[in-house]
Amino acid sequence: MLLTGGSSGIGAATARILACAGMKVYAGSRRGTLESETPGVTAVKLDVNDQENTLAVVRDIVEKEGRLDVVVCNAGNGIFGPVEGTTEEEARYQFETCYFGALKTIQACLPVFRSQHYGRIITVTSVMAVLQLPFQGFYSSVKAAMLSLSESLSMELRGTGIECCSILPGDVATGFTAARKLTGYAKSEDNPYKGKMEKNLAKIEKDETGGMSPDVIGRAILRQLKKKHMSVRVIPRIDYKAVGLLVRILPEGAKLRLLRALYNG
Ligand SMILES: NC(=O)c1ccc[n+]([C@@H]2O[C@H](COP(=O)([O-])OP(=O)(O)OC[C@H]3O[C@@H](n4cnc5c(N)ncnc54)[C@H](OP(=O)(O)O)[C@@H]3O)[C@@H](O)[C@H]2O)c1
Repeated sequence: MLLTGGSSGIGAATARILACAGMKVYAGSRRGTLESETPGVTAVKLDVNDQENTLAVVRDIVEKEGRLDVVVCNAGNGIFGPVEGTTEEEARYQFETCYFGALKTIQACLPVFRSQHYGRIITVTSVMAVLQLPFQGFYSSVKAAMLSLSESLSMELRGTGIECCSILPGDVATGFTAARKLTGYAKSEDNPYKGKMEKNLAKIEKDETGGMSPDVIGRAILRQLKKKHMSVRVIPRIDYKAVGLLVRILPEGAKLRLLRALYNG
C-alpha cells in the first residue's frame, strides 16, 4: 500500500500500525524519511505536487510488489488567517498539497486498481470538512472539497471493486500545529482582526497540542481496511462523532452561533 505524508504525525503512526497488522507500507513524503524504522514500512521520496514523481512511485511499487491494493492520501498542511487579506497565492498553496496532491495520487492509482478490480482509497480530511472555523476558511474549504471528491468518486466507482473512505480526524497532537503557516495579512500589525484572531489561534493550538494521539487515527484506518466494505465517512472517537452528529442536526444559524462563541469568531 501507498501512504502519503508518512514522515510524521498521523501518517507515521498509520504506517507503523498498518505494518504491524501485516501490510507492506510504502510511506511517501518530501523528506523521504521515517520517524522510526519499522519492519514492513519503506520510506519513499514523494512530493504529491509533482505528478511525474507520483506516477513513478506508483509504478515502482507495482513493479516490486506485483500489485497495489490501498492508497492513503494523508499529506497535508494548513494556513491560518482572515479571509479578507489572504492572497490568491496563499489560498492556492492551501489547495495544492491537500486537494490537488490527493487528486494526483488517486488518479495515479486508479488505473492499477481498475486493472485489479480491487482498490481501497482513503483520504484523511478533517472534522473541519463539516464544521467551519473562523480564520481557517481555506483549510475548512479544502477539507470539505476533499470530502466531496471522495464521496462523488465512491459513487462513480460503485461496482468496480474500488471503494473510497474519508477519515475526519478531530484535534490530533502532531507536527501540524508547528508547521501551520500564518498568512502575511494575519501577521501584519494593522490587521483589524488581530485581537480575536490571536485568541482563536491560541485556542486551536492548545486543542491540537492537547489532542489525541495519531495512533487513534491509524487504528481507525486499520479498522476500515479490515472490513469487507469500507464506510464512506468516518469520524474517529466518540466525542468527535458526537460533534459531527450535532453539526448535522443543528439548524445552520445555531451551528454558526455555537462555533462563533467557542472559537472567537
Ligand atoms: N493534526 C491534526 O489535528 C489534524 C486534524 C485533522 C486532519 N489532519 C490532517 O491529517 C493529515 C496529516 O497531518 P498531521 O497532523 O500528521 O501533520 P504533520 O505531522 O505535519 O504531517 C504532515 C505530513 O505531510 C507530508 N507532506 C506535506 N507536504 C507534502 C507533499 N507536498 N508531498 C508529500 N508529503 C507531504 C509531511 O512530510 P514532508 O514534510 O516530509 O513532505 C508530513 O509527513 C493532514 O492532511 C492534515 O490536514 C490533521
